[in-house]
Amino acid sequence: MKFAFFDAKPYDKPSFELYGKQNDIKFKYYDTKLNEDTAELAKGCDGVCVFVNDDVSAKVIDRLYELGVKLIALRCSGYNNVDVKHAYGKIHIVRVPAYSPYAVAEHAMAMLLTSIRRIHKAYIRTKDFNFSLSGLTGFDLHGKTVGVVGTGKIGRIFIDICKGFGMNVIAYDKFPAKDSGINYVPLDELYERSDIISFHCPLTEETHHIVDKSSLDKFKKGVILINTSRGALIDAEALLEGIKMRKIGGACLDVYEEEADIFFEDFSGHIVEDDTLARLISMPNVLVTSHQAFLTEEALDNIAETTVHNINEFFANGACTNELCYHCGKIGECKKSRLSKCF
Ligand code: NAI
Repeated sequence: MKFAFFDAKPYDKPSFELYGKQNDIKFKYYDTKLNEDTAELAKGCDGVCVFVNDDVSAKVIDRLYELGVKLIALRCSGYNNVDVKHAYGKIHIVRVPAYSPYAVAEHAMAMLLTSIRRIHKAYIRTKDFNFSLSGLTGFDLHGKTVGVVGTGKIGRIFIDICKGFGMNVIAYDKFPAKDSGINYVPLDELYERSDIISFHCPLTEETHHIVDKSSLDKFKKGVILINTSRGALIDAEALLEGIKMRKIGGACLDVYEEEADIFFEDFSGHIVEDDTLARLISMPNVLVTSHQAFLTEEALDNIAETTVHNINEFFANGACTNELCYHCGKIGECKKSRLSKCF
């Protein structure tokens, strides 16, 4: 089988080569992202393998369908970049629902600690033999209230980590987990009570800009926001305003609303056109990582292993466990039976 592998990075290849060779799957690696112009590269391939910032919109799906592509294999769990409704009945989609929720939850905590204990500042100072402590005062996490939005795989691990620090945890989820012992509160109450808020819900129409200008009035003064989920959960302009008003005390961003053409690439010798991102990065209390939360050895191995497993399962007859379709997840509407594919 042949797969066009879009947005390939050097760290992707070793694990995909290993599992690909073991399973007779040839990956054709392309640095470019999938979009209307590059879809042509999938000609002659059975499927495409894509990541978070590839464009899998209706027009791209139609072109892939014309080219005879049978499977879109997402090598990530989020699928907000895919028009799943449009793909239904045309091309099947599989994803990697979990590869290392620990990687993301641990990164969220790493960003929080770095930010509030000013580790990023201290690192640069001591590299320059500057041992002054001025301006490095942080605060204890112990006893602080953390609000967790989205209590799925990652959110729950983050909750456990926070409990280890002696923090009070409150949470909001559209579908609260029964008998989990999690202290659920309405979103507005979470915004009002939390010293720190961490987002672990998917990007949907409902969660788009779950932080906007109106949220600023609700937040506690000095709140720290952590977003390792998807950039568009937070309206970046509102975030900037909240920081300038001193209402938001810090932001730890692994994702950014307009990251698609910027993150994962080296722009160190270029002028970055995005003024909002440039302004955010210039703030002393904003920490940005480039969609890095997933990037551990364990996660990369799991991503490749599960993707190859998904491809094998799809081309064998019968159900494909990690298939994703327009109806999947909609209670009462999912057509997938245990014995067959979604359509
Ligand atoms: P999950 O599916 O296990 O959990 C998501 C949770 O969000 C569920 O409990 C769900 O009920 C809840 N939710 C759904 N709609 C909601 C709403 N409107 N309001 C509040 N909660 C809502 O997903 P998982 O594995 O925990 O991942 C969470 C997110 O993390 C993914 O959607 C993805 O966007 C992001 N992610 C980021 C990575 C990174 O490298 N930065 C890597 C992997 C995932």
